Amino acid sequence: MSSFTVLPAEGGLRGRLRVPGDKSISHRALLLSALAAGPSRISGLSDGADVVATRRAVESFGAQVTEDASDLIVEGGDRHEPDTVIDVGNSGTGIRLMTGWAATLDGLSVLTGDRSIARRPMGRVVAPLQMMGARIDGRAGATLPPLVVRGGRLRGLDYELPVPSAQVKGAVLLAGVGADGPTTVREKLPTRAHTEQMLATCGIRVESDGAGAITVHPGQVQPVDWAVPGDPSQAAFWVVAACLVPDSDLIIERVYVGPHRAGFLDVLRRMGADVELVDLDPTTTVADIRARTSSLTATEVGGAEIPGLIDEIPALAVAASAAAGTTIFRDAAELRVKESDRIESMVTALTAVGAHVAGRPDGLEVRGSDRPLTGGQVDSMGDHRVAMSLAVAGLTGTAPVRIDGWESVATSYPRFEEDMHRCQTP
Ligand code: S3P
Repeated sequence: MSSFTVLPAEGGLRGRLRVPGDKSISHRALLLSALAAGPSRISGLSDGADVVATRRAVESFGAQVTEDASDLIVEGGDRHEPDTVIDVGNSGTGIRLMTGWAATLDGLSVLTGDRSIARRPMGRVVAPLQMMGARIDGRAGATLPPLVVRGGRLRGLDYELPVPSAQVKGAVLLAGVGADGPTTVREKLPTRAHTEQMLATCGIRVESDGAGAITVHPGQVQPVDWAVPGDPSQAAFWVVAACLVPDSDLIIERVYVGPHRAGFLDVLRRMGADVELVDLDPTTTVADIRARTSSLTATEVGGAEIPGLIDEIPALAVAASAAAGTTIFRDAAELRVKESDRIESMVTALTAVGAHVAGRPDGLEVRGSDRPLTGGQVDSMGDHRVAMSLAVAGLTGTAPVRIDGWESVATSYPRFEEDMHRCQTP
């Protein structure tokens, strides 16, 4: 296990950063390219270990992946049963999307991952896929990995999501592409729309009734050249850091700010943050985000906005620790089944660096203070977002923060340290 010590920033965070490609879009670009008959080019793919694992996985299923400068060329369309167990590493998105994706393959796939993956609930994807006719087994009555998928021709399904989850929606829609008729997913709360948008880009007929029902029709995925924009979840760490570190003025370039992905910016604005979108491209919903030092006040975060910022709550909790008043995050019990129990992890870690934070069954309460965080020693609990949010806490505090389990950051942001130095170099 590696440790990393973050020292308080000596001056403001300044300049321009480019975060890794959006992780959600990266997984989907690989899976769709591997379904398409012909070559797809992907630029800007996330270099995190989660996406590397999905690349290896599609190669095991027969896709030919080659590098061309910093782009990937994926030659797909010839999927076959893998002759090895698929290891998704730490990636919940990877294993859940791939379960739906593999369910249309006439053959056997075995999907597993690391110790964190072994605890992630899979019943939410297995149940609808079984209703479509896929044969899936796994630990604990097919609710935990490893999963064994015996796929084939599936039946179309009309399914209401029991949890607002873009991963479950994505798994069912990906399976729907290979079904014998239309498949509809109904969501009560909107979640990130990448799967349906990207399927439509690949030539699949997709309909949305505007009231939460998304229907895909079976069809052949066409090759596409994908340009993956920057990941808003990674940008969130720098946006929060720039808001909290005095004398900061930072630009995070070319970030995806489309539907249900940039909710953290709305929350920060509500708290009084000086954040703005620069050069927003309305077609791609990609913009530069400019963040400057701000004085923040507490807010309440809950209800329908949660799916659009669930991954950013650790970073927002750090922002809340410096805001006047008590910020409440509610309706976010899903945090308990992420890479770690993020409610417990964040309570323990933020308390260790001097924040006043309490867990709720469905979220967090953070009592802000105008006294900076004190520094200390924390454990990432193997969770990349816990590690990076505590690095932000370290930049804003009065004493170093030592983060044990720092290696988890490679999951989504291998160049985090480099970028941290870059925005502190005068
Ligand atoms: C993701 C969906 C979200 C999110 C995850 C990525 C996706 O998970 O937390 O990091 O790419 O579909 P849930 O679908 O479990 O909410």
